[in-house]
Amino acid sequence: MRSLKNVNLETKKIFLRVDYNVPLKDGEILDDSRIKASLETIFYILNFSNTLFIASHLGKPKGERKKEFSLFPIASHLSKLLNREVIFLDDCVGEKVLEKKKKAKPGEIYLLENLRFYQEEEKNDLNFAKELAKEIEVYINDAFSASHRAHASIVGITQFIKEKCAGFQLLKEVENLKKILENVKGPAILIIGGAKISDKLGVIKNLLPKVDKILLGGGVIFTIFKALGYEIGKSIYEENLLKEGKDLAKEEKLILPVDVLIASEISQKADYYNTSIKEIRKDYYGVDIGKETVAQYIKIISEAKTIILCGPLGIFEIEPFSYGTREIIKAISQATEKGAFSLAGGGDTIAAINKFNYANKFSFLSMAGGATLEFLEGKELPGLKALDS
Ligand code: 3PG
Repeated sequence: MRSLKNVNLETKKIFLRVDYNVPLKDGEILDDSRIKASLETIFYILNFSNTLFIASHLGKPKGERKKEFSLFPIASHLSKLLNREVIFLDDCVGEKVLEKKKKAKPGEIYLLENLRFYQEEEKNDLNFAKELAKEIEVYINDAFSASHRAHASIVGITQFIKEKCAGFQLLKEVENLKKILENVKGPAILIIGGAKISDKLGVIKNLLPKVDKILLGGGVIFTIFKALGYEIGKSIYEENLLKEGKDLAKEEKLILPVDVLIASEISQKADYYNTSIKEIRKDYYGVDIGKETVAQYIKIISEAKTIILCGPLGIFEIEPFSYGTREIIKAISQATEKGAFSLAGGGDTIAAINKFNYANKFSFLSMAGGATLEFLEGKELPGLKALDS
């Protein structure tokens, strides 16, 4: 993949695809990590008297123009972060936008409205892609986290712009994720959490031959325990994956919790206690890995040279259920300090790491969720392939 450093960017009109799909509440940005992650590329581009058109999707408006999915609040935030004016255009294609593109001057930065206000975006419609590409001389994809989507601004558009390359964030994501796929340093461990085993099966299968151990936590474990015939109470599990769960349990590298925290309800005011995995109450929910499991996992983590964290180990958003996730994140940070390579990915995982203030203690935090999982599953991402061809 070509880096933007290898492209002549002098006084060009540039289309920069970023991923500003950030959590918003009443127009307020709750986490701007993805916006900050794009700054290095933007600052670099601005060194060359370019005109910059930045484009992104936000949420799933499904082809409709919906105010709550407007990128408008992002424009002023980006402007503050860059300390430069960012001109917001309330569309991403059409006559008005084309006029602006024609008249835009070097040094100007435009943020286009949500690409997904057009269903053509998700359909990878080539006429729409051609519209996006009008007047543009260089295409830069810095949205690794959206590159598993074969959408018009990610794939189709590359047919209509000769010069295309990858931004710094995308390159960093690929470089770090490749370390795990290509030359993993052992002992290597994969820690899998999160609610559903269905989201993680592909990663587990693809990384199983590359890592030494896979430690499980989160809701993921209950499908396996259910498949093994344990009482799991009201814990989350996936009925259609019981066979897969049973097969997985046979893998020697797989480590399952020996105890869990169970709670009467999923709330702060629940009654909760630590118990053996064999003694889950029928009317209780599994909400975190147990204390003995945490201690065992910490020992394994402390001896590892590569650690991959995909998913929280419990419902960390609720304080009494956050112990497992926090302690595991802390242990990974300590192992990193001692020289291990650590990587974490997925929205919830990053939210947990941020919440417990360990963001700068990991070797690499992937800004992506689905794209990271698909990359680690060994799949080819359409957005990356489009940059190569
Ligand atoms: C993400 O948040 O993972 C990316 O922005 C992709 O979003 P999507 O799942 O709506 O395509």
